[in-house]
Amino acid sequence: MGKLHIIDHPMITHKLTIMRKTETGSKDFRELLNEISMFMGYEITRDFPLEEVEIETPVSKMTAKMISGKKVAIVPILRAGLGMVDGLQTLVPVAKVGHIGLYRDPETHLPVEYYCKLPFDIEERTVIVVDPMLATGGSASDAITLLKNKGVKSIRLMCLVGAPEGAEKVMADHPDVDIYIAAMDEKLNEHKYIVPGLGDAGDRLFGTK
Ligand code: PRP
Ligand code: URA
Repeated sequence: MGKLHIIDHPMITHKLTIMRKTETGSKDFRELLNEISMFMGYEITRDFPLEEVEIETPVSKMTAKMISGKKVAIVPILRAGLGMVDGLQTLVPVAKVGHIGLYRDPETHLPVEYYCKLPFDIEERTVIVVDPMLATGGSASDAITLLKNKGVKSIRLMCLVGAPEGAEKVMADHPDVDIYIAAMDEKLNEHKYIVPGLGDAGDRLFGTK
C-alpha cells in the first residue's frame, strides 16, 4: 500500500495558512506555493540513493557522496500544478517537465483530459506528479493511470491540501504510489470543493476570478 506522508513542518503550515486566507492575492499566493513546493521537495527526495565519488578538496582527496544518476520528471496537472514546478526544479534542476491537462467537468466533477506532453524517456524516470488540490482524487488518479499506460513505473504524488476522499481514492486505485501532502482537511462540500481548503487554486494562482 502507498504511504500518505503529511509534511506539516511549521514553516510549511505557516505559509499554507497565509495562502488559505481570502485576502491573499495572486502574487503572494504564487510565491508561497513556490516556497512550499521547494520545502516539500526535501521530503519527497529524502530516499534518493547516494553513491560514493572520489573528489579533491583544496586540502586533500576524499570519498564523498552524490545522488546516483536518478532520472526525475516533474509532471504538473494543468493548470494549478504549474505553480509547484519551479520550487521543485530549484531542488532538482536536471528534472525534465511533462504536462498533463485535466479540468473537472463542472456538472459531474469528473476530470476531462485536454493535453498531454511528456519527456520522450518518461518510462525511465521517477515521476513526481504535482497538483495543489486533491479533492475527489479523480484528476490525480487519472493522471497517474495515464503515466502508467506510458510505461512509468515509479510515481509519487505531491499535493498541498487534500480531502480524505481524494487520498483514499488514489491509494485504492494506485497502491504503489506514495502521496505527499502539506495538510489533510476535513471534507468536500456539495460542489466537491475542499472544506476549509483554499478555494479554486488555479483561479487564485492565475487571477482568473
Ligand atoms: C483542480 C485542481 C485539481 C483538481 C482537483 O483543477 O487543481 O487538478 O481540481 O480535483 P479532483 O481531486 O476532484 O479531481 P481544476 O479542474 O479546477 O482545473 P484548473 O487547475 O485548470 O483550475
Ligand atoms: N479544485 C480546487 O481548486 N479546489 C478545491 O477545493 C477542489 C478542486
